[in-house]
Amino acid sequence: MTGGPDDPAALLAFDRDHVWHPYAPIPATTTPLVVRGAEGVRLHVTTPDGDELELVDAMSSWWSAIHGYRHPALVAAVTAQAQELSHVMFGGLTHRPAVELARRLVELTPAPLDAVFFADSGSVAVEVALKMALQHWRSLGRPAKRRLLTWRGGYHGDTLFAMSVCDPEGGMHALWTDVVPAQVFVGVPPAGFDAPLDDAFVAELRAAVAAHADELAAVVDQFERLTFDVITAHGGRVVKMIGDEVMFSVDSPRAAAEIALALVEGGRRDDQVSDLRVGLAYGPLIEREGDLYGPVVNLASRITAIAFPGTVLVDAGLREQLAGDARYVLRTMRPRYLKDIGRVGLWVLRRGGPPEDRFAARRQALREAVSARVEPGRHR
Ligand SMILES: Cc1ncc(COP(=O)(O)O)c(C=O)c1O
Repeated sequence: MTGGPDDPAALLAFDRDHVWHPYAPIPATTTPLVVRGAEGVRLHVTTPDGDELELVDAMSSWWSAIHGYRHPALVAAVTAQAQELSHVMFGGLTHRPAVELARRLVELTPAPLDAVFFADSGSVAVEVALKMALQHWRSLGRPAKRRLLTWRGGYHGDTLFAMSVCDPEGGMHALWTDVVPAQVFVGVPPAGFDAPLDDAFVAELRAAVAAHADELAAVVDQFERLTFDVITAHGGRVVKMIGDEVMFSVDSPRAAAEIALALVEGGRRDDQVSDLRVGLAYGPLIEREGDLYGPVVNLASRITAIAFPGTVLVDAGLREQLAGDARYVLRTMRPRYLKDIGRVGLWVLRRGGPPEDRFAARRQALREAVSARVEPGRHR
């Protein structure tokens, strides 16, 4: 290979003077290894001294080669795709591979994550998500809500806006704190996905969100407060909250109906929370370490996913329990076929009573919305 285009010494000489590597100055102060090839988990490299080594790449090229190098299925898929259609812009155009990938992602992710926006790297994905959060408030005429709250110790990428939510002191972006937007930080969350809820951390988070509510482009705390208060006020139990989803359980069918209707009505009244959708299913549950399991959990979650914003959908079991109760109206929907569950009957739950009372909650919500606009101080 000596002297040819693959000659390691010649590659290193040009690389040193003209190629700028991440996290390194130019010209470089250290000499990189030259990769000659890669297969599975192994890299075939040549050292600056000319030694040929085989190394295990235990960080999968910064986690982007998780299936290993030259995986035959990936090589075949990339080759076939490049021959059919390598790249076209995505504005105003679409194509089968994109739709197919989006379909698979929608199937993989839990409701209500049912829309896909494609980005080409981790940093860009973070930029896209942050821009969406900001744009949401701009579209609602609240451009002052432009800051983000996060915790210390995070790393989200090296583009400028993503850097603003990385750890502001300990991280490698400390150099940029006076350039990137100043975000709101709380402490590092208690470690572990399964760690029990830490009341002190929750209190710190709530206080920070409350103190910056008018400038934050985030709704999670508002959603949590609204749902937690409504559920517990009717004797329900908050099983878990994940982002803008809450799972609750309650012993009595009537309490379940009251919670669901109050959530929807509360969501309508609250201009910081978008219209909520609620799905209710009735049946036995298995409790393990504070979490709930059983077919009814799956059913309730799937029903929630298909409920329209601002409505409550219930299954046949709950409908049977509520039937005959004049406080509620149950309107039949066409049955739906749910994958892995089968054909499911569904009913929309509304408040009953005399017609003049039926829309009282809605009228009250409208009245409050109007007065909130007239009295700006009451906005939240
Ligand atoms: C949590 C997290 N977010 C974002 C990024 C940035 O991804 P990328 O290097 O693809 O821009 C990383 C990269 O390590 C990451 O670990």
